[in-house]
Amino acid sequence: MHMSELLTSDRPTAQKIDFLKSSKLENLDNSNLARLYENTKESVVKRELVSKVGKMKDKKFTDFLTSLLTDNDPKIVIQAIRGLHALKDDTISQQLKKYRDHPNELVQNYVNNLFFKQQSDKHNMQVNDRLKNVVVNGDTLQIMQQVPDNSIHLTFTSPPYYNARDYSIYQSYEEYLKFLSEVFKEIHRITIEGRFFVINTSPIIIPRASRQNSSKRYPIPFDIHHFIMDAGFEFIDDILWVKPEASVKNRNGGFMQHRKPLGYKPNIVTEYVMVYRKKTDKLIDWNMRQYADEVVENSKIKGDYETTNVWRIDPASDKIHSAIFPEELSRRVILFYSYKGDLVFDPFAGSGTVGKVALDNERSFFLTELNEEYFSRIKSKVSGLFNPQLQFLSTEEFEQLWQ
Ligand SMILES: C[S@@+](CC[C@H](N)C(=O)[O-])C[C@H]1O[C@@H](n2cnc3c(N)ncnc32)[C@H](O)[C@@H]1O
Repeated sequence: MHMSELLTSDRPTAQKIDFLKSSKLENLDNSNLARLYENTKESVVKRELVSKVGKMKDKKFTDFLTSLLTDNDPKIVIQAIRGLHALKDDTISQQLKKYRDHPNELVQNYVNNLFFKQQSDKHNMQVNDRLKNVVVNGDTLQIMQQVPDNSIHLTFTSPPYYNARDYSIYQSYEEYLKFLSEVFKEIHRITIEGRFFVINTSPIIIPRASRQNSSKRYPIPFDIHHFIMDAGFEFIDDILWVKPEASVKNRNGGFMQHRKPLGYKPNIVTEYVMVYRKKTDKLIDWNMRQYADEVVENSKIKGDYETTNVWRIDPASDKIHSAIFPEELSRRVILFYSYKGDLVFDPFAGSGTVGKVALDNERSFFLTELNEEYFSRIKSKVSGLFNPQLQFLSTEEFEQLWQ
């Protein structure tokens, strides 16, 4: 069967792709190709055709590939750029550079990686001594101002839950989100290129003021997402922390009796663990290559591990703090997203679970906590563990370190 007949027929897509892969296109010219492309229906087949033309690295197809730079499908534009770049022609390359401003982000990334990527420099992986195993009592925003750019390997935190608990009060939800957005900008500044920021939150309920009012739900994870992206992070994964139903508040009482639609209230057994990475054009492999082989070997996660984004972990309780991380949750985040020797930061340290688990797993920590009582709780949680030096500082003492 002739190629144009097959590609425009109702045959299965896979068959068309196989046919394309095994065919020779040398005999076609730019106008034959343009017609074939136009008459092909399936996007995947079109992409295969353009990819195949690009791989031929033949200058006679320059016009065909150039005509696709304005295609609506960004993947076609990328294939066309790839094919044209492979021709190794300076004039064409100059033209391609302007696609850095293409409206589609995948095309922008592709062109940036092709022409504008800085050659990889090794990071200084040394942990700053003024941050190593330090806990500071005070407002995290004020404390972070002292912290140099690119100091933190991993941040894992759970911020205050708006006004759902009594440890911090905000005048409005807007003010709360604004505060968090400032925190995200600072975390971004002090995070090393390409490293992770993992944040645990869940929607909260502020109970009704009286029987005439209804309780209000605030979808915190969804509202903070765009502030985190605006700060310069890239979204990586959403992990669901699932608790046993018996451990959460029962909201089913009324519905179980009346069974009336609209009155359904599920028991909330999940929290979100959202994973972000400081934006970079470098791949994660680049971050991994910063470590000595021995560190990589020693940091590997051995044996069984959770292979899905559903993490079933029992909640934890504490005699002083009302909302702490289970150690297992912190352990997984720290093991999956940092290497031994790294500096792990928790701006809202609470009882200091992240610090304890970081030390247990041969990482260092840097913690900030506003509440004095919790600050003291951190002392009892992390002291006594085998560790050369821990420092517990007021904000003023911490600021003096940098003068
Ligand atoms: C959800 S709790 C964190 C609990 C922690 N993950 C643990 O395992 O114990 C949030 C903490 O943020 C603290 N916090 C609130 N505002 C703060 C601020 N501006 N600076 C530093 N800490 C703050 C609260 O006192 C509270 O302990």
